[in-house]
Amino acid sequence: MQSSVIIALDFPSKYEVLKFLNTFNEEKLFVKVGMELFYQEGPSIIYEIKEKGHGIFLDLKLHDIPNTVNSAMKGLASLGCDLVNVHAAGGQEMMEAALEGLEAGVSGGAKRPLCIAVTQLTSTSEEQMKREQLIGVPLQESVLHYATLANKSGLDGVVCSSHEVSMIRETIGNEFLTVTPGIRLKDDAVGDQKRVATPELARAAGVSYMVVGRSITRSGDPIGSYRKFIRAWEGV
Ligand code: C5P
Repeated sequence: MQSSVIIALDFPSKYEVLKFLNTFNEEKLFVKVGMELFYQEGPSIIYEIKEKGHGIFLDLKLHDIPNTVNSAMKGLASLGCDLVNVHAAGGQEMMEAALEGLEAGVSGGAKRPLCIAVTQLTSTSEEQMKREQLIGVPLQESVLHYATLANKSGLDGVVCSSHEVSMIRETIGNEFLTVTPGIRLKDDAVGDQKRVATPELARAAGVSYMVVGRSITRSGDPIGSYRKFIRAWEGV
């Protein structure tokens, strides 16, 4: 997985995705296929993107009973993505079942995709979490709790905001992946995200991969915007 920036391909159809990817010519990217695109286009979109040599994070955030997640992951493993995910709120048994499914689903000796768990969505504020999920502890504690549970379940990392990463690193260590959406350049629109951070802050916190969607995909100059994120991350 080449780049520190994962581009969220939040487009409604293959047509827009291919148009977007073509602007990057032969450059190899790390991209995220989420619900919007996968539910419209199905598995064939993964094969098309893979054929172009890009790394793929399939962001379907599975959250169901362990048996269902196990079977679903068996199927997803055969697509050949690099990274997949579940909701940590599904619990330890569900996360373990997800890993078993992935291992059972990869063909002959291939490496299973990495699997990470969503902790608290970056569109959730602490006030919202307390009011709607009835979680009484501070948001940081909830995120750390879910990260610890994901680690105990054998997962490779978590999705969280950049603000929680140094705490996760201190508790769980540097091998554990932290993938952070909610990344914005200083003057970008925040939209529906609540726990946002700049690439500079993400890098300083020890983030493994930043997920960037609208700031690149809806920019008039997607390549220029992508490079701005990379430069900000690299501090140049
Ligand atoms: O456009 P923006 O940069 O806000 O896109 C963020 C992407 O990351 C979206 O595709 C969203 O579904 C995804 N995501 C998120 N928060 C999470 C997990 C994934 O925003 N906790």
